[in-house]
Amino acid sequence: KGWGIRSPELIPRGSFVCEYVGEYISDDEAESRGIRYDNQKMSRLMDVYGNGRDAVHMCIDARHGRGRFLNHSCEPNVFKQRVFCDHHVRLPRIAFFALVDIPPRVELCYDYGYVDVPGKTMPCLCGAKSCKKLLY
Ligand SMILES: C[S@@+](CC[C@H](N)C(=O)[O-])C[C@H]1O[C@@H](n2cnc3c(N)ncnc32)[C@H](O)[C@@H]1O
Repeated sequence: KGWGIRSPELIPRGSFVCEYVGEYISDDEAESRGIRYDNQKMSRLMDVYGNGRDAVHMCIDARHGRGRFLNHSCEPNVFKQRVFCDHHVRLPRIAFFALVDIPPRVELCYDYGYVDVPGKTMPCLCGAKSCKKLLY
């Protein structure tokens, strides 16, 4: 799975964990970077959708950002949430919050929610009892 994140301290349920920080890029740019990242079997792209009539759809590339080391788990202890700041509804930020009380040193993981990719699969190594065995 590569690098992951653990906290040395207990994280109480509902607490803010961190933000998914990176470069906001267009769908087209994400498409081309996605092919490269898929070949490397290491993606740091996340879709982000705004609200309302002028909603924007973009991607965050966290390659040089923060929050990118959270791995996927089929039994997650963290969830992602769109966060609207400064009354800016067209394009939110993405933040992670604790789904349960997370004891110290337990890996922080969320459900990537990947959809099937035609002709491609990636094994899931989360190790959870209910693991679906594939990320996509
Ligand atoms: C956003 S990065 C997570 C951090 C990554 N482990 C690293 O070292 O940079 C996403 C990538 O981590 C790996 N990964 C995350 N969760 C995984 C899992 N449950 N099983 C297998 N690979 C996983 C995959 O290569 C995926 O494309």
